[in-house]
Amino acid sequence: MKKPWQGRFTEKTSRIVESFTESISFDRRLWKYDIEGSIAHAQMLARQGIITHNEAKKITGGLRQIAQEIESGKFSFREDLEDIHMNIEAALIQKIGDVGRKLHTARSRNDQVALDLRLYLRAESGEITSLIQKLQGIFLDLAGQYFGLYLPGYTHLQRAQPVLLSHHLLAYVEMLQRDRERFSDSLKRINRLPLGSCALAGTTLPIDRTYVAQLLGFVETAQNSIDAVADRDFAIEFLSNCSLLMMHLSRFAEELVLWSTEEFKFIELPDAFTTGSSIMPQKKNPDAAELIRGRTGRIYGNLLNLLTMMKGLPLAYNRDMQEDKLPVFDTADTIKACLSVLIAMLPGVVFQTERMQETAGAAYSTATDLAEYLVKKGVPFRQAHELTGRIVLSAIRQNKKLEEISLEEFRKYSPVIQDDIYRRLSVADSVGNKKSLGGTSPSEVKKQIKRLKKLIQ
Ligand code: ARG
Repeated sequence: MKKPWQGRFTEKTSRIVESFTESISFDRRLWKYDIEGSIAHAQMLARQGIITHNEAKKITGGLRQIAQEIESGKFSFREDLEDIHMNIEAALIQKIGDVGRKLHTARSRNDQVALDLRLYLRAESGEITSLIQKLQGIFLDLAGQYFGLYLPGYTHLQRAQPVLLSHHLLAYVEMLQRDRERFSDSLKRINRLPLGSCALAGTTLPIDRTYVAQLLGFVETAQNSIDAVADRDFAIEFLSNCSLLMMHLSRFAEELVLWSTEEFKFIELPDAFTTGSSIMPQKKNPDAAELIRGRTGRIYGNLLNLLTMMKGLPLAYNRDMQEDKLPVFDTADTIKACLSVLIAMLPGVVFQTERMQETAGAAYSTATDLAEYLVKKGVPFRQAHELTGRIVLSAIRQNKKLEEISLEEFRKYSPVIQDDIYRRLSVADSVGNKKSLGGTSPSEVKKQIKRLKKLIQ
């Protein structure tokens, strides 16, 4: 087939170059956005008297037919037509004749591809946001369902202080909330119309970019035509938002892996979301969670890929930028798959409540409460910390729990200790007496569940 740029050339493009430079194998998935943009463009051209209304009607009719053909799988994409833009334009000309040649007036593939990618990312951001919201809802349901259950809280992966399991789960709801905020905030910058910037300099034809922006639901029109075709930071921002989200999913996936081990035994994963071993008959492996953790590398890699690809490019458009699509598509697909797996798996996770309760109070996890008890009796915190440390050491040496230490022995360390200390050393008191905003006390966690429920709606 003849290339649109044939006029200037005397030789045919080499087959090797055709297959090396094509992007149709992957950018075909932008077809819907490409057609949506072209329809808006044609309507504007007619409104401005650049083409007639009748011509615009033929063009939009042809484009809608092409959309149907692509949707039903009847459209044949051609590698020699390089990308989705030229495939659709060529099909249009074939369908409606010479009128189709008017569509590309006052437009270039440079502003066209920038538009398509923005429309694509707007839609993907919306989908990802609603998946995040669903996942938040599941975390919140679990937090409600297991309200009152204790869990050993960790720092350095050493048992630290008892917390409510709900409190731990709500931590993920908070992370996911910030992720959602980031995706919505980025929409401000995605929703800027590049179309009408043409190759880089604008056009001598009397186009109306504001009207096209309106038609496509853009809040703003890009104000510098060079920037509008050269910029991909909105895509990098999307990959960065995805990287942060993926980091959160990966940390949770890691906890699922860890918690389902024989060593922790805090949860049992549903059979449907685990796999067996080909040699060890007893095994039940958390592969889905492991793969969420594992795919995080791909998501980070995609961000680095695009940042690196862009960093040395002189203004304005460069063909390198065609490489933006693969990492963007891969990231959107991967993130949505990971979210969907978690959404399906999480409601089936069984929390081993007894094991959690029993470990929450072990390993001197209420030692900090003893120190704070001393503080309330007037002992300066550093001194209280030191005294408590010595009490713990002595308990370890005698292989005793804190609450097994006699009052007499306690009072050897500090005479301010009275027999109300034993209540303070219980997990229920440790958790229940937390006073601070955002802490693990049931009253505070209940408040947070209510607040978050409202927030995710
Ligand atoms: N396939 C190209 C891309 O994805 C479209 C823009 C091509 N522009 C050009 N001047 N060759 O970036």
